[in-house]
Amino acid sequence: MVPIRVGLLGLGTVGRGTYELLRRNQHEIARRAGRGIEITAVAVRDVEKARAIVGNDVSVSSDCNDVVSDPEIDIVVELMGGYEPARVLALDAIARGKHVVTANKALLARHGNELFDAARARGVMLAFEAAVAGGIPIIKALREGLTANRIEWIAGIINGTSNFILSEMRSRGVSFDAALKDAQRLGYAEADPAFDVEGVDAAHKLAILSSIAFGVPINLDAAYTEGITHLAKEDIKYAEQLGYRIKLLGITKRTVNGIELRVHPTLVPLQRLIANVEGAMNAILIKGDAVGVTLYYGAGAGSEPTASAVVADLVDVTRLHTADPENHVPHLAFQPDSVAALPWLSVDDTVTSYYFRMRVADQPGVLADITRNLAEGRISIDALFQREPSEGENQTDIIMLTHDALERDVNAAIKRIEALPTVLAPVIRIRQEELL
Ligand code: NAP
Ligand code: HSE
Repeated sequence: MVPIRVGLLGLGTVGRGTYELLRRNQHEIARRAGRGIEITAVAVRDVEKARAIVGNDVSVSSDCNDVVSDPEIDIVVELMGGYEPARVLALDAIARGKHVVTANKALLARHGNELFDAARARGVMLAFEAAVAGGIPIIKALREGLTANRIEWIAGIINGTSNFILSEMRSRGVSFDAALKDAQRLGYAEADPAFDVEGVDAAHKLAILSSIAFGVPINLDAAYTEGITHLAKEDIKYAEQLGYRIKLLGITKRTVNGIELRVHPTLVPLQRLIANVEGAMNAILIKGDAVGVTLYYGAGAGSEPTASAVVADLVDVTRLHTADPENHVPHLAFQPDSVAALPWLSVDDTVTSYYFRMRVADQPGVLADITRNLAEGRISIDALFQREPSEGENQTDIIMLTHDALERDVNAAIKRIEALPTVLAPVIRIRQEELL
């Protein structure tokens, strides 16, 4: 059988990895796919740079439309990133009856509903395994492997760059800026690294996972997003003293009142496996009603790990290329006519436990004032310690963990506590999850 023909939009970290992986393992891949998979055209901005990688066997253009409109091409792989022109190019490819593979979570989180509708209407596949958690086959696991389950929650380290930065800061004392530079050098970071460190990239991935888990439309706007830029070294240290590690988690949960969708630094008990996931590795916990908690671990970013997921999609699409569209696995796990809009919970309505650090005057009655305000908000303390002030210092830190509390009550209590004359700085609050 003739090989299936692929056009690549983008030949950067992931594009180059995909090109090289397909070449290196072409025979093994063809044995699995049932026919060869061949990249015949590439579009990039810098044609000379691309030519040095692919030589003269592949056509190289600086115009993505050349690839998308090429009638010889069966699958368009979008690895350029960003919203536009990626969106219009993907739509054009779909309209021309081509299957699309993408690693672009930003695109799917923002425009996925439109793109999946278009792909369904045209009867083509839009595959996106690489868009979430790099090389971990999490989309397949959630969409197919756990299909018997009613999913209860997902919690994951789904941004390699921020996990890499937190690991480097904690274990090697590297500064935030230096660790970010390393992550960029290693090809983990987004074109705009603010997406990584402000939690936006994790929110993109979480919005996609949530849709597949609960059979709801993708809704990025429902996500509460907080990154790691405001984390202080002392909180990382105090958390460890209390038996916790701080991780940037994406959490989505089904509750009786609606669905939670939130990304924020989180205290995780040190004895959980996920607390010990370091560097650019990702890990995702999924709780299903039948299977219980399952954990998926692996490289969340980087050239070949991500290419591994892109090529897996290419093999899937190749196998199903001639299949009746009704026999395709639904893009977002649920049959399109059974996708339902469930209510989304505001972060104010979430219930979790908390870590607080309060900078206070070192004088009698301070702790009593604080605990009275917490009690007024029905917030109960689980653990507490006070840093011993150094010689001559007239202020100190109180560090505490709480039991579960409603975020709205916590916000009100923090406001009252910050108004106390003995509380000298804004209260640091980090959410905590037991992940059981
Ligand atoms: P990258 O290294 O910056 O590569 C982007 C490629 O796209 C480059 O070859 C660039 O061409 C090309 N490109 C960008 N805009 C273009 C345009 N308007 N016309 C033609 N070509 C254009 O990016 P990447 O890290 O490979 O990421 C690609 C996608 O994969 C993004 O959506 C990203 O979020 C996603 N992703 C990345 C990783 C990772 O670890 N890096 C992991 C998972 C998913 P030039 O080289 O000529 O500039
Ligand atoms: N910038 C992303 C990360 C790439 O660091 O996780 C993988 O999606």
